[in-house]
Amino acid sequence: MTYVLALSDLHVGSRFGIFPSGFVGTSGAEVRLNGGQQYLLECWEKMLAVLPQNIDLLLLVGDIIDGQNLKQYSRFLCEVDPHAQARAAARLLQPLLERSGEIILIRGSSYHVGSAAEWEEFLGEVIQARQGPDGRRTLPWLLCEVDGVLLDVAHRQSYSMRSRGWPLEREIGFALERMDRTPGAYCIIRGHTHNFHLLDTGDQIAVSLPSWKLQDEFAQTTISPNRTIPRHIGAVGLEISGGEINAHKYLFRHPEPTVISIAGGSAGGDSGSASARGQRRADDEGDRPTPGRVGDDGPATRARTRRKRQDHASP
Ligand SMILES: [Fe+2]
Ligand SMILES: [Fe+2]
Repeated sequence: MTYVLALSDLHVGSRFGIFPSGFVGTSGAEVRLNGGQQYLLECWEKMLAVLPQNIDLLLLVGDIIDGQNLKQYSRFLCEVDPHAQARAAARLLQPLLERSGEIILIRGSSYHVGSAAEWEEFLGEVIQARQGPDGRRTLPWLLCEVDGVLLDVAHRQSYSMRSRGWPLEREIGFALERMDRTPGAYCIIRGHTHNFHLLDTGDQIAVSLPSWKLQDEFAQTTISPNRTIPRHIGAVGLEISGGEINAHKYLFRHPEPTVISIAGGSAGGDSGSASARGQRRADDEGDRPTPGRVGDDGPATRARTRRKRQDHASP
């Protein structure tokens, strides 16, 4: 039996992405994790606790670091230097690297990993990812035979907002077209969309990997926030033996978006009732589980609240 663990889209360096605790960044100070990052780290520790002790192949399927966040002037980074991001990612991955026989790094989106993946290449050197035929540590596309199954791994895939499994069906179709034959046991693995989906046709399995990044402001403001909020974060393990694949899901809920409350009753009436209502709301807030909230100490929510206060202060 061969055990493969596939992880994607960690986006280390983003204030919405997972980040190791106790890492001293290029500012010279320890990077302080916000509430969302603490939640991601808790999920990470839970996953580490249930993973097998021996991983034959660790697949890192791109966007492991976040890069420079240039479109937002680096505003949403907790560490601005992509090389330091790569070192932080290596620190985070260390418990997995120690138990993995082979490490393969797939090249992520150029916006995040640098021109020709130069920053992810640096990460590949640090974690000693397997070198491709061109000597590089990041691979644009991996075809790999494992115990009677052909793995087909790449970062990008197309994206369907409504029918989440449709891009994976197309990927299987493209593979069958390319080979012009039924390929036997075949497993397609993709990242990039940050949405988990698993498709099993009986002969072929296709996996869209979840990410380790919470919905950021870019996802909230492009297209539609309700469409782009992922349901899960996590990873997928594949137990492969004699041409058979068993998929193991390590999934954790993406936190619910923050709901703010506006207290009414300021135009008059019984002030006693108003304060009682306010007290009830405060009690309700206290009952909510903090790990389940995106904006708990999160940058996007704080920014929105600040803007709102300024709007009210304007003449
Ligand atoms: Fe990504
Ligand atoms: Fe990507």
